[in-house]
Amino acid sequence: MSATLTRGRLTVDVRLTPDQLKATLRRDVQGGLTATPKTIPPTWFYDDRGCELYEQITRLPEYYPFRTERALLRRSAGQIAEAAGASVLVELGSGNSEKTRELLSAMQHATGGLDGYVAFDVAEGTLRTAAQAVVDEFDIEVHAVVGDFRRHLSAVPAGGRARLIAFLGSTIGNFAPAERAEFLGEVGALLAPDDRFLLATDLVKPADRLVAAYDDAAGVTAAFNRNVLDVLNRELDGDFAPERFTHVAVWDPDNSWIEMRLRSDAATTVTLRRLGLAVRFADGEEVRTEVSAKFTPAQVASELAAAGMQAVGLWTDPAGDYLLTLA
Ligand code: SAH
Ligand code: AVI
Repeated sequence: MSATLTRGRLTVDVRLTPDQLKATLRRDVQGGLTATPKTIPPTWFYDDRGCELYEQITRLPEYYPFRTERALLRRSAGQIAEAAGASVLVELGSGNSEKTRELLSAMQHATGGLDGYVAFDVAEGTLRTAAQAVVDEFDIEVHAVVGDFRRHLSAVPAGGRARLIAFLGSTIGNFAPAERAEFLGEVGALLAPDDRFLLATDLVKPADRLVAAYDDAAGVTAAFNRNVLDVLNRELDGDFAPERFTHVAVWDPDNSWIEMRLRSDAATTVTLRRLGLAVRFADGEEVRTEVSAKFTPAQVASELAAAGMQAVGLWTDPAGDYLLTLA
């Protein structure tokens, strides 16, 4: 069931009501915390506090991806808009839509003009605020979809106009490889002949820079990581003691990803009463909370090709840290 509500030039399609969101969380956590090794999908970082902490991360000196992508978009959005030739921008995992403004204004000034923006995110509060701000600033039709991009891509409206579907932030790196292939296949299947896909990817670089970006001196990423335990405590009536879990960020060269984990500093049993689940942690046992894959341009092109898409434009920053691919 979904409900579409109109307010001014903003429509909101809720594919995940708060109850459905909780049901999805229950399923993910039940599966992840009974598996070996234990995992929690990164989707659950993003309650209001998690969105706020992510925003703080984007301003950290060590966290180069955000500002590198923004500068790259600032420089290249005009070319991307012309090459895409779309009049509707669809953004998956749009968050606060901050960097999106570079694309929106470039599309507004491009030959095809800008008719609308579809923002798609699981974080309802952040999404609504961001979508309304875009209505106010750009005076266009904005459609917000509260949904899980692992399940609800069919909620992206068609409507006959050429669309540019953007997936920014290198959020693609947060999928496990099999999930990533499945997701790219679904995006490929969504594209009509005139649609284009813009994919942002963080590129492989020396491990010390990568680790620093995920283990900053101010401890903001550690707070972001531990916040997921507060989410579980609140939503699943749990008794995690977040301060007894240490933030861990390691570079895994074999998988080419940064892995974030939370390490229990003692043997403990955590109860999640709403799941009727008792989870035993050994002293020093870790739960994986995020992978953040780093790519090579060749790998991006081949994964897009495997999903039936062909790279038609590439933009990178002067240091070669980050890549935007139009497919
Ligand atoms: N695009 C923004 C935000 C990136 S943070 C940027 O580049 O800065 C990742 C975003 O994806 C968050 O806003 C989070 O709420 C959203 N997200 C994470 N998992 C999701 C899921 N399964 N479905 C939809 N959105 C998701
Ligand atoms: C949104 N996502 C791509 C971020 C990343 O870099 O993997 C989330 C994040 N995790 C820790 N810091 C930022």
